[in-house]
Amino acid sequence: MKPIGVFDSGVGGLTVVKELIRQLPYEDIIYFGDTARVPYGIKSKETVVRFSIENTLFLLKHDVKLICVACNTVSSVALPSIKSHFRIPLVGVISSAVREAVYATQNKYIGVIGTRGTIDSRTYEKEIRGLDPQIKIKTVACPLFVPFAEEGWLSGKVVLEVAKKYLKPIKDSGCDTVILGCTHYPLLKPVIKEVLADKVKLIDSAKQVAMEVKGILACEGLLSKNRKKAKHKFYVSDNTAWFSDVAKKFLGEPLGKVKKVNNV
Ligand code: DGL
Repeated sequence: MKPIGVFDSGVGGLTVVKELIRQLPYEDIIYFGDTARVPYGIKSKETVVRFSIENTLFLLKHDVKLICVACNTVSSVALPSIKSHFRIPLVGVISSAVREAVYATQNKYIGVIGTRGTIDSRTYEKEIRGLDPQIKIKTVACPLFVPFAEEGWLSGKVVLEVAKKYLKPIKDSGCDTVILGCTHYPLLKPVIKEVLADKVKLIDSAKQVAMEVKGILACEGLLSKNRKKAKHKFYVSDNTAWFSDVAKKFLGEPLGKVKKVNNV
């Protein structure tokens, strides 16, 4: 009966929550968006590890049974460290996206876009090569996509121009599959699609991550037996009104009260 915990630096993790709600409709969810300290993608590893440990401790206070790290930056630079501090199942977002992309690519060329932290960590390259050393990889950091998503700027001329500039090396590379290696980026999917054209397959890890969470809960005998409407609670570290707006637009349902927490 315990809830699933999910955290991200801001609204990006909601792309994973949407899929968790779809696949696990009876599971209660506690979401934490660290909106006071977003973006994580331009911060040092030490800082991201510290924030992630604090976020994990916050969710543990809510007695969660599993934590989904719905942030690629945390998953790529901090997951091993946080795993070494806690015994609770912690599910990151990298491996599931990698598995799907390796399976999807026909020309054995994968593009990865993400925050600077994620791209510089080279975690995606290591994981892709671990599954198939023959695959070519083109990686590009797109740091401005996160503030666009946080501001709810999901379309329009400015976003399109920035997307064209960032995505040019990916487009020119000829890769046929692109991993959206940041949970904020699915919010910008229409613009990314417009730039890359339809023949490029976009992989966003949300669906696979939700399947992985479901699998772990089933294996551990932790699936909820509740058949009543599940409760979804949202916490942020700043700016609740604006978070509710962006989240409502994205999840397509009102969130109820978003609570602000002062000390994570
Ligand atoms: N949504 C996060 C990610 O997947 C973090 C973005 C950020 O805070 O820079 O990387």
